[in-house]
Formats: sequence, structure tokens, C-alpha cells
Amino acid sequence: MSKKFDVVVIGGGPGGYIAAIRAAQLGFSTACIDEWNNDKGGPAPGGTCTNVGCIPSKALLQSSEHYEHAGHAFAEHGIEVKGLGLNLGQMLSRKDTVVKQNNDGILYLFKKNKVTFFHGRGSFAKAAAGGYEIKVTGAAEETVIGKQIIIATGSNARALPGAAFDEKLILSNSGALAIDGVPKKLGVIGAGVIGLEMGSVWRRLGAEVTVLEALPVFLGAIDEQIAKEAHKLFTKQGLSIQLGIKIGAITANSKDVTVEYVDDKGNAQKTVFDKLIVSIGRIPNTTGLNAEGIGLKLDERGFVAVDGDCKTNLPDVWAIGDVVRGPMLAHKAEEEGVAVAERIAGQHGHVNFNTIPWVIYTSPEIAWVGKTEQQLKAEGVAYKVGTFPFLANGRARALGNTAGMVKFVADARSDEILGVHIVGPMASELISEAVVAMEFRASAEDIARICHAHPSLSEATKEAALAVDKRSLNF
Ligand code: FAD
Ligand code: NAI
Repeated sequence: MSKKFDVVVIGGGPGGYIAAIRAAQLGFSTACIDEWNNDKGGPAPGGTCTNVGCIPSKALLQSSEHYEHAGHAFAEHGIEVKGLGLNLGQMLSRKDTVVKQNNDGILYLFKKNKVTFFHGRGSFAKAAAGGYEIKVTGAAEETVIGKQIIIATGSNARALPGAAFDEKLILSNSGALAIDGVPKKLGVIGAGVIGLEMGSVWRRLGAEVTVLEALPVFLGAIDEQIAKEAHKLFTKQGLSIQLGIKIGAITANSKDVTVEYVDDKGNAQKTVFDKLIVSIGRIPNTTGLNAEGIGLKLDERGFVAVDGDCKTNLPDVWAIGDVVRGPMLAHKAEEEGVAVAERIAGQHGHVNFNTIPWVIYTSPEIAWVGKTEQQLKAEGVAYKVGTFPFLANGRARALGNTAGMVKFVADARSDEILGVHIVGPMASELISEAVVAMEFRASAEDIARICHAHPSLSEATKEAALAVDKRSLNF
């Protein structure tokens, strides 16, 4: 006999597991099916984010930053480190422990919230009376029936044609997080979020890193001024970033990879790397769902087609997170998960796409929310700008971390904040104030008039807001 649930969630990443918890909180009998295996074949819920994404990358970014500081920054503070060494095995195993803590945390949360977890692959078998029959295969083999189905199957790394990931020499994000010896020469294709974060990790640990990017501009989607500053800082750190290249043949032999490409001046180039990370974006994961069999509509790029409320073309079937349109971010997936569970309960769940923050966890970090200057120009919106450099912030000086700035763009007439862009220390934390402000449709003056603790990095935010009205106090 099939087990029956009000809500069945397929996929246990940040979108799926949060949707399941919220549905259970709302009183629905809820199941979540996830196929991710840990190294012992056991369940490892949390999806890309927990297993090979947000969490392990941030663990390695932290460890590698400590290593770099111990080698290069401590001396300025009067701390002498003799005999500094790298135990990469320990660093990777710490990262694995952090991942496992998160996997276990999600299993605990399922128990606490009475979400029934199935470890295996979920696929649509057929429409059943009052819902859908979902076949679970893998560690658990059974059939469950859900009145409402939430698809949260996430995404996978996109490979370059003719250069499949072997995770030994040609690495996706999974392999890039588990290199067992620091490569002497590391190639990275794609100067996007993963390329910059993982390139930074391995550069700090001693690799000579070359990043090859197709676009002629660096981080073309972010605010131009911030991108220029970041490019300058990363180049100074030793990342070699080559823009406007066209990748040709990629040939792996038993110990290295040769990448042929045409550079921005039209010259043919050939470089041999010890390892190559390919980070050129991600593709939605719909394999195994039996989308075609059940009549689930995909869009022209292979994403599950949804409307603004995450409804698919099938009644009572929803889809959220990386497998649908919009930014591929864990917090976007989570917000959609909560909103869908609430819509199923007849509530008015809502995701404000205008206030989703982005963060690149390099050093310095880059974070932004809302519109860039170039977007506002293109839209013909009249705006004012205020910037404040961390160089003039007391806390940043005390930290020894003065690179970068905070930048506000506000409506020229109403002063409403339209975007905030930060490159600098703890930008990931600072951006929250901007998100709150924009969610409440605050003006730059609102932030400028709020008392900020001294000395704190957040004073740079206040000062940038003051600068919108040309009245910075400390610059
Ligand atoms: P996923 O996390 O991909 O989860 C989908 C789950 O569904 C997986 O466990 C998968 O195995 C399972 N699944 C798929 N098909 C089936 C099926 N048929 N049956 C059962 N289970 C199935 N985002 C951030 O916001 N911040 C970051 O710092 C960040 N860092 C990242 C770093 C890296 C290296 C990468 C690759 C991504 C990063 N992201 C980050 C993006 C983030 O990981 C994704 O946006 C997020 O994981 C999407 O969540 P999701 O729930 O939609 O999908
Ligand atoms: P991305 O979209 O961030 O960057 C891909 C880059 O590769 C782009 O600059 C693109 O122009 C370039 N590119 C594409 N094809 C190319 C080619 N043939 N040759 C050379 N360059 C090429 O994608 P990325 O870095 O793979 O990350 C995927 C997604 O994962 C991100 O968009 C983001 O949504 C998410 N992510 C988020 C993180 C965070 O929030 N901190 C961290 C890591 C990933």
C-alpha cells in the first residue's frame, strides 16, 4: 500500500528541505525524497548547497584565508609565525565534517518537524486519485502518493562540449572542492561566482591560477565601478584573469590538461594546467523525474516552466529553486519553498525578486542588492550616487582590511534606495542592512540618520548613504 501525504517534496536541497519543513509547520503530512549519498552510501540531504556548494566552499574559503593571513598578514600585527605549514588533508577533512554536521542537522530538523524522509530518487509514476503517485527508487524502494507535489531537484554543473568532467583533471564544483594536493598550475574557465571563489581558495594555498573568461568585461552583471575595483584587487592578489577569450580544444592526458584558446587580441594560445576547473554556469536537473511521461512542461532552456507563483502546467505540482527560472541562489530557493508551502495552505506567500542579495565570498567580499548604475541608465531612471571607501573607516583600519567601498544608488527625486553595492570586508553581513532598508522602501536619508555603532564597518554604509546627499562626515 502506498503511503499517502498531503505534500511530497522531490529534492532535499535548501529549496526542498525548507519547503518540507514549512509545509509540516502548517499542519500538512509531508514527505521529502532526496537521492544524495554520502561517502558511505547513506543519506546526505542538503543538496548542492550543503554537499558541494555553499557550505564546503565557505569552509575552504575560511581555512585558506586563515592560511594566507598567517603567512602574509599576521606579521603586520606583530605576530610572528615560524614554520608555517599546510596540512591539506586536515583542511579537507574539516570541510567534510562541516558538511556532515549540516546533513545531520537537516535529518534532525525532519524528525523534529515530523517530515518523513525517503532516501532515493523520486519520479512521477502517474496521476492518482487526489494527487500523484511518486515512485521512489534507490536506498528506499516504494511508492508514495502526494496531493501536492513540490519539485526541488536543483542543478548540475554545465560541462564544455568535448571536455566531460572526470573530477580528476577536469573538475566541476565537486572536484574543485576536493583536490588532494595543491596544483602548481590551475586553470579556471569562467570568471563567475564559482571561478572566483574556488580560484581564490587554491591561489591562497599556493597554486598559480589563471582564469579564462569569454566575456570582454569582468563580472558584467554587477555594478561597473565595483567590478573594476574588484578586478584591480584580485589581480593584485595574483589571480591572472584573462577576458574576452574563446576556448578551443581541451585535451586531458594522464597527468595534465591542455587548453587551447584565442585571446582577446586574436592570438592562438595553448596552456598546460595540472588541473582545470570548468565553472561556466549550471543546468537544471530534471533527469529521472519522468517529466515527459507525466506531461510536465519544461521551458526552452530545460528548466521546469513555472508562473510567478511557482505553479507548473500540472495542477497541484509546483517547482522551486535552481530547477526554475531566476537566480541560482540557496536563499532564493528557500524563499520560494516557504512561499509555495504557504500558498498550498491558502496563504499569500511572496518572494520579492528585487531584494534578493548576492554575495561573492572572495576577499574582499562582493555583495549587492537592487539595481546597478548601468541598469538605471539603460532604464532612463534619474538617480544619485553616494560612495564611501573602507580606507576612511576606523574599524576597517583596525582590522587591516581597508580595500573597497560601499556604494548607494538612490532615486534622484524621492531618494528611495534603488541599489547598494559593496566590495570590502564582511560585505556579506553588511548587505543585510541594505536588504531590510529596500524591503521597507527606505530612502538613503533614512540610513544616514540611523545611529550606527562605532567603530564598525556598518558606519561605511551610513557614510555612503550620507554621501548620496554629499554630506559624508568622515571623507
Ligand atoms: P539543490 O541544492 O541542487 O538540491 C537538489 C536536490 O535534489 C539534490 O540533493 C539532488 O540530489 C536532489 N534530486 C535531484 N533529482 C532528484 C530526484 N529525481 N529524486 C530525488 N532527489 C533528487 N548559493 C548561495 O546562495 N550562496 C552560496 O554561497 C553559494 N555557493 C555555491 C557554491 C558552489 C560551488 C555551488 C555549485 C553553488 C553555490 N550556491 C550558492 C548555489 C546553491 O548551491 C544553489 O542555488 C542551491 O543549492 C539550490 O537549491 P535547490 O534546493 O534548488 O537545489
Ligand atoms: P556564473 O554564471 O556565475 O559564471 C559563469 C561564467 O563563465 C560567466 O562569467 C560566463 O561568461 C563564463 N562563461 C560561460 N561560458 C564560457 C566559455 N565557453 N568560456 C569561458 N567563459 C565562459 O556560473 P558559475 O560560476 O558556474 O556558478 C553557477 C551559479 O552558482 C552562479 O551563477 C550562482 O548562482 C551559484 N553560485 C553562487 C555562489 C554564491 O552565492 N556565493 C557561489 C557559487 C555559485
